[in-house]
Amino acid sequence: MKAQSNDLACIVLAAGKGTRMKSAHPKVMHALAHKPMLYHVLDTARALGADRVVLVTSPDMEKVRTHVTAHYKESVSHAVQEQQLGTGDAVKAAAELEGFNGTVLILYGDTPLIRLETLRALLAALKADKKAGLGVLGMEVSQRNAYGRLLLDKQRYVERIVETKDASEAEKSITLCFSGVMAVRGPLLFPLLAKLTHANAQNEYYLTDVVALARADGHPALVAQAPLAELAGINSRAELAVAEIELQRRLRRQVMENGATLLDPETVYFSHDTQIGQDVVIQPHVVFGPGVKVESNVEIRAFSHIEGARILSGATVGPFARLRPGALIGEKAHIGNFVEIKQTTVERGAKVNHLSYIGDAHIGRPVISAQARSPAISTAITSTAPSWARARSSARTARW
Ligand code: UD1
Ligand code: MG
Repeated sequence: MKAQSNDLACIVLAAGKGTRMKSAHPKVMHALAHKPMLYHVLDTARALGADRVVLVTSPDMEKVRTHVTAHYKESVSHAVQEQQLGTGDAVKAAAELEGFNGTVLILYGDTPLIRLETLRALLAALKADKKAGLGVLGMEVSQRNAYGRLLLDKQRYVERIVETKDASEAEKSITLCFSGVMAVRGPLLFPLLAKLTHANAQNEYYLTDVVALARADGHPALVAQAPLAELAGINSRAELAVAEIELQRRLRRQVMENGATLLDPETVYFSHDTQIGQDVVIQPHVVFGPGVKVESNVEIRAFSHIEGARILSGATVGPFARLRPGALIGEKAHIGNFVEIKQTTVERGAKVNHLSYIGDAHIGRPVISAQARSPAISTAITSTAPSWARARSSARTARW
């Protein structure tokens, strides 16, 4: 993968106002499967082996830059677009790439579901087509939409891209739309950007106009296609919800491909980082928050909510269990209904079968927590927290 090093740079545009989200938070920080949509894009850019990744944000997005730097260190560099004058102006802000000789791949921070394979195919197509100066990713969209339309010539090169707001009725009826993703041969990019004007319906510098400008210079744009489900841009809460559904579909399929059984997949929600081992059975209506690792042969029963927890081989959890950060459920341990566990180790074979809150504690093996029936059990729970935070549950002796 690193063979592409020095050949590829990525620019990720994220400076847009995102007004259609109606949010106090930047659009690109809204999460999908518990990860900001921007991070989905940055992870993809890095997985492509891009030598340089430049993130374009607006001056007021200082917090985003701080988060990104904490997360990605120097593998992502920052460019600030002073005023939001359009996507073409935003790419100009990545001026540090002027003079870059390889291919520049432009991604949008609001298009997070794009797959690595799709981008590789676009880059390979551009590499193979010596005539083309750039390549764009398109998608078929049959319903009414606000995407740019791709106008093709007889050889299937793109003549120009027309934004919906500038399109005639005939142009609006074109179903091949622009995803926002563009790969441009480095030396062409900045001279083309310098030619952009804002004579259009939105009074913006459109990146999309580089297609016609490059063509006029003898560098046509090829088009590669992928399904709308992976190229859809997120501009509103409704589109965010559609993207979440698509991402969950992928995560479920991945978990099943890795050898777990989901009794009713559509009712189970994963986090981007959920790790599920082989022969795990997950009953309906289970929700995974971030940071969960489940080893093999675990059964997770219906209506459980699990985050920041590790569940070791052969354990049973639920129904109606809540595992919170720091819960470590040992091998073959049982966590039963209406049990909440936080920052607690439940050792191998121990049972916490019902109606309990266990926090900042250590449950030795084997123990059953429920109604207190014997004081003998008190030795099995070791609190690791101040008395007010100790296990509120009383316990009874093990059956054995
Ligand atoms: C853009 C495309 C459209 C395409 C669609 C795909 C243009 C002119 N239009 O429209 O053809 O079908 O994406 O989703 O490119 N941004 C900046 N600075 C700006 C403006 C935007 O960084 O001044 C960033 C946004 O943060 C976002 C991306 O660029 O990540 C796209 O901007 P957006 O306003 O969503 O463009 P669309 O209207 O969706
Ligand atoms: Mg958009």
